[in-house]
Amino acid sequence: MAELIVAFDLPNGREALALAERLPGLRWAKIGAVLFGREGPSLVAEFTRRGIRVFLDLKWHDIPNIVASAVSAARELGVSMTTVHCLGGRAMLTAAAHAAGSDLALVGVTVLTSHDAAELEGVLGRGVPDVGFEAERLARMALQAGLRGVVTSGQEVGLLREALGPDPWIVVPGIRAQGDAAGDQVRTIEPAEAVRRGATHLVVGRPITGARDPVAAYQRLVEALD
Ligand code: C5P
Repeated sequence: MAELIVAFDLPNGREALALAERLPGLRWAKIGAVLFGREGPSLVAEFTRRGIRVFLDLKWHDIPNIVASAVSAARELGVSMTTVHCLGGRAMLTAAAHAAGSDLALVGVTVLTSHDAAELEGVLGRGVPDVGFEAERLARMALQAGLRGVVTSGQEVGLLREALGPDPWIVVPGIRAQGDAAGDQVRTIEPAEAVRRGATHLVVGRPITGARDPVAAYQRLVEALD
């Protein structure tokens, strides 16, 4: 069964913990750069103390030594999953995977959902006929370097599952049920469809945190995944 990860993109730790308390059976919490910047490691420690796995999503992209040290720090903190950018390159990915070891799942961001082919061409300095092709190329490199899986949009999940085989984790944000506001997400996918195409972990933020009744929204998602 796919795992539901709630993205706690909330203004502070107090609100994040208050919401977490109301979500029955919550297994995973994503903490991103904003909340981590405000609250730091103590919030991660508080989630893990409550038995909730933390996905620390800081998307590192730096020289291998620094990224490996950052991953080690996350591992020491008890984080269960964390992210690096595949565009950081093979040496960085290998060093990061080594630092993650077996207890911290390291996943790679392939192509940012804010990048289309034209933007990617500007970054890479060459023609990009197909974003999916680039996502697949980067995903293969990440897995060869020893990462546990990748983060990708709903648009690429089917293609990547077919290309990568059954084992790698595929973490999919931009999840929207029928009737949910897309917000700034452009490549959205419905929860059951993401799972059908091969997602192992679904990241859901605003459809829960911004709902009039977050608990009911969370429960509908849990049911959709059952
Ligand atoms: O609120 P929403 O469900 O759109 O939240 C999506 C979450 O997934 C955010 O925390 C965002 O950082 C993350 N994410 C994303 N697109 C990516 C990678 C991560 O929206 N490509």
